[in-house]
Amino acid sequence: MNDFVIRTASRSDAEGVAAVLQELVAAGKRSKSSDVDFAASHYITHPDQIVCTVALDAGSRVLGFQSLKRAVGGNPYGAPVGWGVIGTHIRPSAARRGIGRALFQNTLTVARASGIPAIDATISASNAEGLAYYDAIGFVDYRQHGGAVSKAFAVSNQPRGCAAG
Ligand SMILES: CC(C)(COP(=O)(O)OP(=O)(O)OC[C@H]1O[C@@H](n2cnc3c(N)ncnc32)[C@H](O)[C@@H]1OP(=O)(O)O)[C@@H](O)C(=O)NCCC(=O)NCCS
Repeated sequence: MNDFVIRTASRSDAEGVAAVLQELVAAGKRSKSSDVDFAASHYITHPDQIVCTVALDAGSRVLGFQSLKRAVGGNPYGAPVGWGVIGTHIRPSAARRGIGRALFQNTLTVARASGIPAIDATISASNAEGLAYYDAIGFVDYRQHGGAVSKAFAVSNQPRGCAAG
């Protein structure tokens, strides 16, 4: 049984999301913004946000989160317009416990309901754990550009394992 819970994020999770980013910065796994305002505006209330999902421990501490945004024209990842764009961030102290896999279950449920055809994951080619994670949950390479690898996941509107009848 998991020792964490998964739910959709709300504005009040911004501090917890920022704390995850700050732990990644301290571990040398992130160099971009990690303050509360950035966490709120970039991952939770962004106008292109489809869903942001958080994982919480028993004390309601945010262990990690996953963001899914709709790709608009000129998006910084070069993802096809109308696709989803995914990002996943887990506290290094909570890594490799299945949190990333569990977050994707919620993301995928919302992705199917949203009608997006596919999800883009653009990762630095040197980010071995990020590449391995997206491989493990079913993403496949479709583009390489400027030191980054873009992987794609085709979204079906049909829930998996739903046999006829
Ligand atoms: C990459 C990351 C999201 C993985 O999250 P996680 O919660 O540790 O992943 P899970 O425990 O659900 O692992 C799922 C599978 O991914 C693969 N995987 C995850 N981390 C891995 C690592 N460090 N090395 C090799 N494979 C790894 C494995 O196949 C794993 O399955 P297994 O544990 O049964 O072997 C997390 O380490 C992270 O946030 N890294 C820093 C930020 C980042 O690089 N994000 C990705 C780009 S947006």
